[in-house]
Amino acid sequence: FGRQIKYSEEVESTQLVIQQLVQAGAEEGALALAELQTAGRGRLGRVWHSPKGKGLWFSVLLKPEWLNLADTPQLTLLTAVAVCRAIRAVTSLDVGIKWPNDLLVGGKKIGGILLEASVENGSLRHVIAGIGISVNLAPEDYPAELLEKATSLSIAAGTKIDRAALLNRILTELEQVYALYRTEGFAPVKLLWEALTVSLGRRISSTTAQGPIEGFAERIDDHGALSLRMDDGSVRILYSGDIDFR
Ligand code: BTN
Repeated sequence: FGRQIKYSEEVESTQLVIQQLVQAGAEEGALALAELQTAGRGRLGRVWHSPKGKGLWFSVLLKPEWLNLADTPQLTLLTAVAVCRAIRAVTSLDVGIKWPNDLLVGGKKIGGILLEASVENGSLRHVIAGIGISVNLAPEDYPAELLEKATSLSIAAGTKIDRAALLNRILTELEQVYALYRTEGFAPVKLLWEALTVSLGRRISSTTAQGPIEGFAERIDDHGALSLRMDDGSVRILYSGDIDFR
């Protein structure tokens, strides 16, 4: 991964840069990286705050042609595992994964992952894995309302973090976990994710199309979805969305 790199000072979103690379015939592992995003995208249509020079804002092209569409949530968990392992290795911070793929330190978000799949005739063409990590942002780089629930690696670690070293490690981890997934399937990736998550074994709430729900987060199913045990004993499966801890 990262053999082809498109580096920019400023872009709308590195997700869009990869789309252009795809049209130009880019191969799996192509990387788009920017110092500043003017229209960084978050999950669920949100904006991703991407100030200049202090974060790692990048996207990687994946072409898992063998993968069933129903299993794409697995890629989300896989990416979170790779990024979490890399941050732990480079910073020694106790980073955890909040389902599906938020990265938390001390309960605050330090990074997020956005997977965008391109589908043609019902099958997967490519996936763009967008990774945003607040590396060296200072408290004054955040709007006040974000600071309540977000932080950066440098704030948490009390020291500046080498962005290049972290990017390098993420690409290595991603390549390794992806290779494991390709050869062994989801089971070993799921084990890694379970070991790093802070979401299982607790009561959570979420807002679904049918309204708010609350239940006990029991396990991850074989597609990578979250399985909830409801108070009446029934099981609910969450495929996407946001959860809150109760
Ligand atoms: C989330 O937690 O909501 C996901 C955030 C993903 C942000 C990254 S930054 C690089 C890539 N380009 C984007 O526009 N978004 C992703």
